[in-house]
Amino acid sequence: MHDRKLVLVMVGLPARGKTHLARKLARYLSWLGHRTRVFNVGSYRRARLGAAQPASFFDPDNPDGLEARRRVAGEAIEDMLHWLRGDGAVGIYDATNTARTQRALVAARCQAVGVEVIFVESICDDPEVIEANIRQTKLMSPDYDGMDPEAAADDFRARIAHYQRVYEPVADDEGSYVKLIDLGEKLVAHRVEGHLQSRLVSFLLNTHASQRVVWLTRHGESLYNLAGRIGGNPDLSTRGEGYARALARFLEKRAEGDDPTPVVWTSTLKRSIQTARHTAWDKFSLRALDEIHAGSCEGMTYQEIEKQMPDEYQARARDKLRYRYPRGESYEDVIQRLEPVIIDLERQVRPVLLVGHNAVVRALYAYFMNWPPEVCPHLDVPLHTLIELSPTAYGCEERRFALEPAP
Ligand code: SIN
Repeated sequence: MHDRKLVLVMVGLPARGKTHLARKLARYLSWLGHRTRVFNVGSYRRARLGAAQPASFFDPDNPDGLEARRRVAGEAIEDMLHWLRGDGAVGIYDATNTARTQRALVAARCQAVGVEVIFVESICDDPEVIEANIRQTKLMSPDYDGMDPEAAADDFRARIAHYQRVYEPVADDEGSYVKLIDLGEKLVAHRVEGHLQSRLVSFLLNTHASQRVVWLTRHGESLYNLAGRIGGNPDLSTRGEGYARALARFLEKRAEGDDPTPVVWTSTLKRSIQTARHTAWDKFSLRALDEIHAGSCEGMTYQEIEKQMPDEYQARARDKLRYRYPRGESYEDVIQRLEPVIIDLERQVRPVLLVGHNAVVRALYAYFMNWPPEVCPHLDVPLHTLIELSPTAYGCEERRFALEPAP
């Protein structure tokens, strides 16, 4: 997709959601198959100098603090570049990088070894958002372990004030950048070119801070499940129909009073549409949610494939992620076609129920739970199980409900 290695340099005052954004970008890029890693300078500082540093440590007029911070920042950069010299594709340098001179050093160091740089700046002046961020993430940090929450919040505000004194927003002559203003209310992109880079802008454009639940489920048991056949477009079995009823009853209670009301996305296949039909919410059928296409193997059992097409059977067993069915798809293909669905999901403000299929639910689940592509084809997503994913500050919390088919 892109031949040059890439570094995303986060920029912004503390408590502007940089780490949240960095991790989200890493999750998205890794899911798409680009080896991505976040290098968080705060973690280096904690590891080398200890977590409990008072606000004065971050004072730009404190020469010892400045020197110590430069050292750990340099160490993080060198580790990142070392990793990119190997099989890493995208490094995310998660630090404040508030001073222009500091950013120039990072950019020069990356460019000297042929690595492209894009600044990703988060700008937010809404005191309520900043305060919520301090309470939700910063006070949980090891920096304030065991400290009185009010004293910790005061210290953190003093830390922000130190950074504010040296903060210069990224300027046009510094190179490529994306600025997210007020948690994505507004986005400014400057000289961002290339396929992956434009995917990143689209992702950032659509992502927002609202917290909403995503429910994932496979369709109920189908007539093909009963016969052990793959693909096709079968109806639900009697038990599968029972799951459809149980699902609607369960979610009706679970989402009672939800405002806005949830929305349902199914594939275009009968078993998915039938599983969702008892829910009262708006429904949309998306082709992108159809099951992995097994090409010449559609309608066969795994035993038949093993017997009649042993080479195919073994090739799939060797590399389930990259194996493509003859005239069909691979898991990698499924991930690529689900990318617009992820963008749409990021944009949604309503809770979403997704009724998919084995491979599709695995791929979506891998995105939310940050599983690398190699693991995706082996994830456990049983029939008649609803997976509830609730976003948290830095990831997703998962609950599973095994639902007995209703009579
Ligand atoms: C930190 O030490 O917590 C962050 C350092 C920085 O990015 O300024």
